[in-house]
Amino acid sequence: MNLKGRDFLKLLDFSTQEIDYLICLAGKLKAEKKKGIPHRHLQGKNIALIFEKTSTRTRCAFEVAGYDLGMNVTYLDSQGSQIGKKESISDTAQVLAGMFDGIEYRGYGQNLVEELAKYSKVPVWNGLTDEFHPTQILADFLTIKEKFGKLKGLKLVYMGDSRFNMGNSLMVGSAKMGIDFVACSPKKYFPNEELVAQCKTIAKQNGCTIELTDNVEKGVKGANIIYTDVWVSMGEPFEVWEQRINELLPYKVTDKVMDMANKNAIFMHCLPAFHDKNTKIGKEICEKFGLDSLEVADSVFTSDKSVVFDEAENRMHTIKAVMLATLGENDYK
Ligand code: CP
Ligand code: NVA
Repeated sequence: MNLKGRDFLKLLDFSTQEIDYLICLAGKLKAEKKKGIPHRHLQGKNIALIFEKTSTRTRCAFEVAGYDLGMNVTYLDSQGSQIGKKESISDTAQVLAGMFDGIEYRGYGQNLVEELAKYSKVPVWNGLTDEFHPTQILADFLTIKEKFGKLKGLKLVYMGDSRFNMGNSLMVGSAKMGIDFVACSPKKYFPNEELVAQCKTIAKQNGCTIELTDNVEKGVKGANIIYTDVWVSMGEPFEVWEQRINELLPYKVTDKVMDMANKNAIFMHCLPAFHDKNTKIGKEICEKFGLDSLEVADSVFTSDKSVVFDEAENRMHTIKAVMLATLGENDYK
């Protein structure tokens, strides 16, 4: 397996074997970290992290993973750099590639991270765009593998707004890894037809299925994994909350939904989550609409079925694997 020099922009660009390699490598790095075995394989390299949207997990995962690998890390936010305002993405790419060994980018359109990669001679890693969040999927799949011992043959149901980065990326990742994927949403929130068709073709090659349904009972039946995400994503206007709540409330992950799934089903969420009123936005929205939580009930979020904090930790191990595989000299097994 040789991923040296590759960008990590979306899972569609990677084969089943390559994705499996990254998940296994992350598992190995996680075990080493737990045992206190250092792995400073990228000692002295430098990476830049560009965040045009806010982040807790992704930023911290890239920073800690970078330090664990022996690298120096520079963080650039949307205010403190020239990117997009005084300098184009293509010029930025050429400037940063002259100084850094790798560049992470979180922003709006997928076209921006693709453009950055096109003009950068060093690997570019997608830290989330409106369309895709590929490093999150690696963490989720490592978590699923830890819980079920496999990926192939499981059924993953994504509830809520299936059109955005998480729905899209889970659908692609599932198709690649042999997981039966269900988008369980109102019809207008189904992922775009072209991507669905592409994923159905990939799924067929890997012996799994892609299903779209607006029927919760039908969608959730036999599920091993129930996954959801916020109903309004970063970059979307605050005004869309009312419509989203009206349309997506029947797709909220409640105890009743978990009871319709398999007995051993787990609950997943990329986080941050509005599972109670203990956040500024969560409180404001919940109080405005007379709710106590939004996309997931607090009782599910805090239950034994919930693996959300395992996912969060695995962001770091999987991002480390991506950086090591694309910057390292060896085939790390
Ligand atoms: N899941 C995730 O990407 O979280 P952050 O927005 O905190 O990075
Ligand atoms: N769909 C969410 C994911 C956050 C990790 C967003 O884009 O805001």
